[in-house]
Amino acid sequence: MLSAVQIKPDVYWVGAIDWNARSFHGYTTEQGITYNAYLILDEKVTLIDTAKITFKDELLQRISSVIDPSKIDVLIANHVEMDHSGNTPTIKALAPNCQIYASAPQGVRGLTAHYGDLGYTGVKTGDTLCIGKRTLAFVQTPMVHWPDNMVTYDAYDKILFSNDAFGQHYATTGRFDDEVDINEALRQARKYYANIVQPYRVQAAGAVKAVRSLGPDALDMIAPAHGIIWRSHVEDILKKYEDEFVSGALAEKAVVVYDSMWGTTDKMAHAITDAFQAKGIPAQLVDLKVTDVSDAMDYFLDCKYVAVGSPTLNSQMLPTVAKFLTYMKGLSPKNEGRVGIAFGSYGWAPLGPKNVGAELQSVGFELPLGVLARNWTADQAYLDEVRDKVLGLLG
Ligand code: FEO
Repeated sequence: MLSAVQIKPDVYWVGAIDWNARSFHGYTTEQGITYNAYLILDEKVTLIDTAKITFKDELLQRISSVIDPSKIDVLIANHVEMDHSGNTPTIKALAPNCQIYASAPQGVRGLTAHYGDLGYTGVKTGDTLCIGKRTLAFVQTPMVHWPDNMVTYDAYDKILFSNDAFGQHYATTGRFDDEVDINEALRQARKYYANIVQPYRVQAAGAVKAVRSLGPDALDMIAPAHGIIWRSHVEDILKKYEDEFVSGALAEKAVVVYDSMWGTTDKMAHAITDAFQAKGIPAQLVDLKVTDVSDAMDYFLDCKYVAVGSPTLNSQMLPTVAKFLTYMKGLSPKNEGRVGIAFGSYGWAPLGPKNVGAELQSVGFELPLGVLARNWTADQAYLDEVRDKVLGLLG
C-alpha cells in the first residue's frame, strides 16, 4: 500500500505522483507532475484537494495508510480544475457526511457543473473554519489562475495550502524543497509561472502581498497543489515571485525563436544569436522544430530582446511560428520595454517575416530594425550585415 508523508504532526501529504506525464494541456512537463492533496487529523478530519480522477487509487491508499477515508469530515476544494477536484465525488461517496467547502460563488458553481450538487458550502476571504485545535482561514485568489481559486491558511501549523500558486510540475520522491535539486525546483516554478500564471500577474502579485501580510513568523511552509513543498526556501520562492515573476522585470537577455524551411532563416537566427554573444548578452536560440512553445516561453519570460523568425509559406509565416506567437499573445506578457527583431526569408513576397513583425508590434514590441527579410538565400556578406545591424542596435 502507498503511504502518506507526514509534513507536520497530524498533517500529511496524500497526493499522487504522475511520473510519466509529459504534457499538461500542451505544456511540456519533462519532469512529470504531482497532484498534491493534504490530510489534517483534528477533531474534524480534513482533506484539502483530491487529485486527478485517474489517481483515485493512489489518493485513497495514501489516505488509508493514516485513517479510514470514510472518517473524513471536511473536504476543502481550493480549486475546481479537475487535476485537483477530480476525486470530489469519490470522497463524498465514501464519506457521505463530509462537508465540502469551496470559494463562493465560482468554486461552488464550478463543482456543481462538474460533479452535480454534492452539497457545497461557499466561503469567501476572511471566512474561517474551526476543525478542532486548528482554525483554517480562506483567502480567495481569483484568476490565479481560474476565477474560483482560493488558498487555505492553517495558522496552527503555519502552513499555507496555496493550490496552483507557487506550484511546479516536478515529480520526485522528495516532498520538500530541501530533498530535491533546489535549482531544478526553482526552474520548474519559473516555467510554471511563465506558462500558467503569467496572464494573471496582477492577481498573483496580490496573492503574494496577502502572503507577506501574514508576517515573517507566520509561515513555516507553502504547500502547493503541484510539486514540492517549500519549507527551507520559502523566502526564495516568494522573492522569485516578487522580483522576477510578477514584477515583469526584464533582464539584458535575448531569445531567438524561429523555424526554417530551407535554411536561410536558420542562418539568420544564428547570425542574430552570434551578435548577442559578441556583446556578452546571454541568448537562447530556440528552433521550434525541436523545442516546444512552453519552453520558448520559459526562456522568453524576462528577456529584453526577443527575435522571432519565419520564412514565407503560401503568403503566411510557418504554422509553428504562428503557434508560438498565438501562445505568447495568450499569456499576455508585459512587453513594455522589450525590443523585437522580426526576421526571415521569402521567395516572391516577404509576407512571413512581415506578418511576424506585425504580430510583435500588435503586442507592444518596438522593432527598431524594422523587418529583416531576405530573398531566397543568405550568403556570408548578408549574414554579416544582419549581425552588424543587431550589434548596432545593442550599441
Ligand atoms: Fe493545477 Fe488550475 O490546476
